[in-house]
Amino acid sequence: MVRRVAGMLAVIGLGIGVGWAQPPAGDVSAGKIVFEKKCRICHGDYGEGNPDVAKKLKAEQKPLWSEEVQKKTDAELRKIITEGTGKMKPPKNVTDADKDNVIQFVRTLKKP
Ligand code: HEC
Repeated sequence: MVRRVAGMLAVIGLGIGVGWAQPPAGDVSAGKIVFEKKCRICHGDYGEGNPDVAKKLKAEQKPLWSEEVQKKTDAELRKIITEGTGKMKPPKNVTDADKDNVIQFVRTLKKP
C-alpha cells in the first residue's frame, strides 16, 4: 500500500516536472507592447516593414511574417534583437523577458 502511494506520487511529481520543464517562453500581449515601443517604428504595425526606414538605411527588410523570418528559430530571432542584423542596430533597453515576449508576438504576425 505504501509503495503504491509512493508510486502514484512519483507519477504526479513527474507530470508536474514535465509541465514545468516547458514553460511558455513568452507572453504575446506583453510582446505586443514591446513591439509597439521598440520595433514598430521600423517594422510597421504588422511587421510589413517601413519603406522610409529601408530607404534611409539602404536596407532590405523582409516582412516579419514572411517565411524567411518565421523559419528562424527563437534563438536566431533573439540574436537579431540582441546584436542587430545587417543594417539593423539592436534596439536599446530590451530586457531578456521583453525578448521572449516580443519573439512570441512576432510568431503571431500574419500577412495583413
Ligand atoms: C531602427 C530601425 C529598426 C528597429 C527599431 C528594429 N529593426 Fe529589425 N530590422 C531593421 C532593418 C533595417 C532590418 C534589415 C536589416 C538588413 O538586412 O540589413 C531589420 C531586420 C530584422 C529582422 C530580420 C528580417 C530581415 O529583414 O532580415 C528581424 C527578425 C527583425 N528586424 C526584428 C526586429 C524586432 C523584433 C525589433 C524590436 C525588438 C526590431 N527588429 C527593431 C530595422 C529595425
